[in-house]
Amino acid sequence: MVISKTASDSDVSVHSTFASRYVRSSLPRFKMGESSIPKEAAYQIINDELMLDGNPRLNLASFVTTWMEPECDKLMMDAINKNYVDMDEYPVTTELQNRCVNMIAHLFNAPLRDSETAVGVGTVGSSEAIMLAGIAFKRKWQKKRKAEGKSVDKPNIVTGANVQVCWEKFANYFEVELKEVKLREDYYVMDPVKAVELVDENTICVAAILGSTLNGEFEDVKLLNDLLIEKNKKTGWDTPIHVDAASGGFIAPFLYPELEWDFRLPLVKSINVSGHKYGLVYAGIGWVIWRTKEDLPEELIFHINYLGADQPTFTLNFSKGSSQVIAQYYQLIRLGYEGYRNVMENCCENAIVLREGLEKMGRFKIVSKDNGVPLVAFSLKDNSCHDEFEVSDMLRRFGWIVPAYTMPADAQHVTVLRVVIREDFSRTLAERLIIDITKVLHELDALPAKISAKINGVEKGLNGTVVKKTVLETQREITDVWKKFVKARKTQVIC
Ligand SMILES: Cc1ncc(COP(=O)(O)O)c(C=O)c1O
Repeated sequence: MVISKTASDSDVSVHSTFASRYVRSSLPRFKMGESSIPKEAAYQIINDELMLDGNPRLNLASFVTTWMEPECDKLMMDAINKNYVDMDEYPVTTELQNRCVNMIAHLFNAPLRDSETAVGVGTVGSSEAIMLAGIAFKRKWQKKRKAEGKSVDKPNIVTGANVQVCWEKFANYFEVELKEVKLREDYYVMDPVKAVELVDENTICVAAILGSTLNGEFEDVKLLNDLLIEKNKKTGWDTPIHVDAASGGFIAPFLYPELEWDFRLPLVKSINVSGHKYGLVYAGIGWVIWRTKEDLPEELIFHINYLGADQPTFTLNFSKGSSQVIAQYYQLIRLGYEGYRNVMENCCENAIVLREGLEKMGRFKIVSKDNGVPLVAFSLKDNSCHDEFEVSDMLRRFGWIVPAYTMPADAQHVTVLRVVIREDFSRTLAERLIIDITKVLHELDALPAKISAKINGVEKGLNGTVVKKTVLETQREITDVWKKFVKARKTQVIC
C-alpha cells in the first residue's frame, strides 16, 4: 500500500486542521503570502503560536486589568465593530463617555456647579491623556508669555526622576525640557521642596505622581501645592500642577478619601487616570479631566462636521474602538463606590499578605509603602552572590512574571523586584507566590554565584593584586552586567 506524502489540498473543514498541509508548510513571516489559507488553519496557527506568550493573569509586572466579568466581556464584544469617533451614528456611546467623564470629575472633586458638565476626554491610556494635558499647559503658558512680550522658546516641566516614560515622550515630542528632581536611596519619589526649587518662569507645570510606577508611593501633592502657592506669591508666576494619577486615581478616592491630592487643591489644574489600571477595564482606556473649561484652551479643540453634527474633538488619534468606554461605564455603575472600595481593600489585604510573607523570609528589604498603589516592591538584602534579576528569571519557570529593574538617578545602584496586586490576584495566588519565591531562594543558594568574579567584591587587579571593592561598587557592577544582559535580549521591534 502506498501512503501518499501529500495531504489533500481540499478544504480543511473536510479534513481535520492537523491533517491538512497547512500545519507542515512554513508560512511567510515578514512578507505576505501569495495565496490564501483556510480560516480554520489561520486560526489554529496563530492561536498555537500565541500559546507561547506569558499568561496575563500571572503577569505581575503589569498594572493593567486582566480580568472582567463575562457580562462586560459580552458588552465589549458586542461593540467591537463600533468606531468611537462616529459620534453622530453612535450617540449613546458618546453619552456614556460623557457620563464617565462627569463621574470621574466628581470622584476627583472638580469644582462643578449643580448643572455644570465636567471638562475631560477619554483617551487610549494615561500616555495620551498626559500628552493632551501637557499640550494644554504649554499653550496656556505660551499665550500668557506672548501677551507679556516675553520669550516662549524654553518651556520646561518639573517632575521627579521616577516619572513614567510617557513624560519623557511628551518632553521629547513636544519640545519641552524635562527638569527632573533626582531620587536618593530610601527616597524614591519627587521631593516637593526640591521640585519647587527647580521651578522658574519657564515652567509650564509641575507634574506629581499619585502612585509611582517604581514603588507605588503617592507623592505629597498637598505639600507641593502649598509650597508652590508661596513661590507663586513671591514671584508673581502662576505655575500650575498636573497630577499623574494613572494608578492612584481609582485608589485614593476609595481608600484614602481624606487625602488631599486632587481638585481640592487650587493649583491642580488637570488629572489623568488609566481606566485600564485600577479603573478595572481591559487595556485601551484612559481619562484626562480639567479643573474648569478655562484650563483647556479653546483653540486646541477641533470641530468637525463631516460625520454628521458638529463634533468637538481633542485627542491625538481619530478612530478607536468603543468597547473600552462601554466597559468603563459598566464598571462604574456595576461596582459603584462600594464595589470599587471592596476591590481596592482586597488588593491591599493581599499586598500585606505578600509583604509579610517576604519579610518572614528575612532575605528582602521592602521598598514600597503600605499606603499607595497595592504593590510590593522589594530588594534582596544581600545580592552579592545572586541578585534580583536571577530571582525574576527563576520565577518565570513557575509561570510568574515578576520584573526586576534598577531605580533611576540617583538611586540607580538599587535593584528591585515588583509585584503589582491586581483585582484578580487572590489570597491563594499570594500564598502560592510566597511558596515559589522561597523555593527559588533555596535553589539559588545551592547554585554557584552567576557572576563569580565578583563574589564578595573581590576582583583581581591588573598586576594580580586582590582588589577589595565596596558593597556599593560591587552592586553597581552587578547591575551593569545585568543591564547589558537585559539589553542584549531586547527586541528590535519598535512598540
Ligand atoms: C505613573 C504612570 N503614568 C503614566 C503611565 C502610562 O499609562 P498608560 O499605560 O495608561 O499609557 C503609567 C503606566 O504604568 C504610570 O505608571
